[in-house]
Amino acid sequence: MERTFLAIKPDGVQRGLVGEIIQRLEQKGFTLVGLKLLQVSKELASTHYGEHQAKPFFPGLVEFITSGPVVAMVWEGKGVIATARKMIGATNPLNSEPGTIRGDFGIDVGRNVIHGSDAPETAVKEISLWFGPEELVAWSSSLTPWIYE
Ligand code: GTP
Ligand code: MG
Repeated sequence: MERTFLAIKPDGVQRGLVGEIIQRLEQKGFTLVGLKLLQVSKELASTHYGEHQAKPFFPGLVEFITSGPVVAMVWEGKGVIATARKMIGATNPLNSEPGTIRGDFGIDVGRNVIHGSDAPETAVKEISLWFGPEELVAWSSSLTPWIYE
């Protein structure tokens, strides 16, 4: 089954949005298979956001991601990569639709609450960057037949 990497950024943790965000993904029907709270190192933040290294906002982004605890998660389900991105909303919260996480809870692009992998290759890379295999739990919810036909 498809898996994606999601991370509640320091602003989401500080603002008490962890429960709300997990609830939305659970209620959608996705399965949580990895979860931890961690203080992110500069090295991990720079590797994770490596594609943005040359951008002017990169130093601020790394500083922000390392400024407080992050909740790192792996979620599983049919179409979870693209659907979680839809549930998260556009990068700039002022352009995110209401009903999305960023649309409901954010204003500034540098405080947009949550990260989500943007493609299958990115998801594989990010899951192995943030989690060891022993930290992921393969399990099947007893609700599966009520969620999938
Ligand atoms: P992530 O899920 O965090 O990767 O966001 P995204 O995929 O929607 O956007 P992208 O990967 O292009 O940018 C990564 C992060 O950099 C964003 O979530 C923002 O926090 C930050 N960012 C992107 N563009 C800008 C910008 O123009 N200004 C600032 N200050 N931050 C930006
Ligand atoms: Mg991105």
